[in-house]
Amino acid sequence: MAESMKGLHRTARCAELGESYIGKTVCMMGWVQKSRNKGGLIFTDLRDRSGILQILFEEQECGTEVFQKASELKQEYVIAVEGEVRSRGKDSNAALSTGSIELVAKSLRILAEAETPPFPIEADSKTKEDLRLKYRYLDLRRPDLAKKIMTRARLSQLIRHFLSEEGFLEIETPTLIKSTPEGARDFLVPSRLHRGAFYALPQSPQLLKQLLMVSGMDRYFQLARCYRDEDLRADRQPEFTQVDMELSFVDIEDVLTVNERLLKYVFKEVCNVDIALPLQRMTWDYAMNHYGSDKPDLRFDMPLIELTDAVRDCGFSVFSDCAKAGGTVKGLLVKGQAEMPRKKLDSYVELVKGYHAKGLAWYGLNEDGTVKSSFAKFLSEEDAKRLVEVSGLEKGDILLLVSDLKRNVVWDSLGALRLALGKELDLIDKTQWKFLWITEFPMFEYSEELGRYQAMHHPFTMPMEEDLHYLDTDLSRVRAKAYDIVLNGTELGGGSVRIHQSDVQEKMLEKLGFTPERANEQFGFLMQAFRYGVPPHAGLAYGLDRLAMWMVGAETIRDVIAFPKGKDGSDAMMDAPAEVFDPQQLLDLNIAVIAEEEKSE
Ligand code: AMO
Repeated sequence: MAESMKGLHRTARCAELGESYIGKTVCMMGWVQKSRNKGGLIFTDLRDRSGILQILFEEQECGTEVFQKASELKQEYVIAVEGEVRSRGKDSNAALSTGSIELVAKSLRILAEAETPPFPIEADSKTKEDLRLKYRYLDLRRPDLAKKIMTRARLSQLIRHFLSEEGFLEIETPTLIKSTPEGARDFLVPSRLHRGAFYALPQSPQLLKQLLMVSGMDRYFQLARCYRDEDLRADRQPEFTQVDMELSFVDIEDVLTVNERLLKYVFKEVCNVDIALPLQRMTWDYAMNHYGSDKPDLRFDMPLIELTDAVRDCGFSVFSDCAKAGGTVKGLLVKGQAEMPRKKLDSYVELVKGYHAKGLAWYGLNEDGTVKSSFAKFLSEEDAKRLVEVSGLEKGDILLLVSDLKRNVVWDSLGALRLALGKELDLIDKTQWKFLWITEFPMFEYSEELGRYQAMHHPFTMPMEEDLHYLDTDLSRVRAKAYDIVLNGTELGGGSVRIHQSDVQEKMLEKLGFTPERANEQFGFLMQAFRYGVPPHAGLAYGLDRLAMWMVGAETIRDVIAFPKGKDGSDAMMDAPAEVFDPQQLLDLNIAVIAEEEKSE
């Protein structure tokens, strides 16, 4: 039977005990990791979130009754033990932080018995994640996962501390709101009081934080819960947390510098990593041209090599025609890989096709000077010489090339291939922390699907002043005062300077295809607020989960979230989403669920 806490007070957590406690009487509580009876001596490992402490039950010390009780202890029982801390002397266990001491028990209370857990509670679990997610509370008892969650808590504290010291106010914004334009699908919440009407859960607090600037709060931050109904990836969840901030009376530099200091502070405190400031910067155009990505991983080199001019007049018409028609030809020089097996090359062909490239060509120079190539037979000696010279190809190297009329296809496919090669050839220096600002994003991106331009960041982003005139002539040339912060190839965060001039905002919405009526319906409240005196403002939001992932070295975002959704967006522990239990709830909301068969009719 479970005993009570009456009269007991926990002295400390397991790992907080050390040699300074030797000789002291303490009361410790936690879970039984394991307990083994070695005839007259029972060794019990007590676990809590801090770590493990060895407890020793000796019959002469604790008496027969306690000893008997201790012999019944099973894995995951919750216990309280009082006793004296003793040195383990030569029996110290260097693998445990408390390995030089043990608690010699005098009394024992079993606070709760426990069924055998469905998987072992141990670090580096081999248990399938699906099962662990179903019993997440047990999973969280595993020391490595618990540590990640604790590091995340510390990170949140440090961010709060830093931003508060910098004059930011922590302000909560509502989560039952109207749709925010971040580009993903909204999660909708039906209103009972307003039949047929829906709230949207925020994709970000974007509009609200801008309104806070209008209100005069001038520096705001929030650890904000955001919701996006989009396909999941290793670093994406439908529900995630942003470190969201907005500042008034600032321009790009002010936002970047305060954030550089924030990053330096938290990485030093949490990871003991010294980040050199200022952080590297790269324009979007440069990043795409040289790395085929707007979040390049700079822990290894291998830039994309520009070859359009070099192949313009060559005998391989796939390349020369493409170049002459205004297309792009680029390549990746892979050092020492001329011997790459054909099978590998074929797999890379498939990889680039996944990014809409029509194919992948290769040109390798074997160590013996012979050429191994998918297109050399079309090249004159002169053509080949030019290709080798421009690309810097040496014996043993291979050049992988993609051409396309659309430069995006070349960027995306070679960018992805670069990353795959970096991983497969083990080129990534994992000890490095490569922070990078990407600036001067295009304001607009053309959507083939919609047949019109969309905002790349969001419609409240300010175009670069020198590009404003392109708003009337060529939208593809308008660059935005937007920036992303990238770490080791991951987008950690992004933001922008906002439009605070109503004429620019109106024009922007018009260019994005909003009729004045629709603009008014969706963002009228913001436009109206701006008529009452809006300060110039700018902001940024980090994915807190992504920051935490890097800090703890997690492979998946789920490892830094206490109760994450699984890969299919569901919660196996609570069984959500689920059908509504009481049909009256749906009736109250005036909602009818259309069965799958009816939908397809
Ligand atoms: P953005 O859409 O770039 O900007 O989001 C900011 C950061 O949030 C993180 N993030 C996610 N993390 C986990 N799961 C997701 N599904 C997910 N989606 C985004 C990323 C991203 O860089 N309102 C603007 C910010 C601003 O302009 O101030 C915004 O939300 O790390």
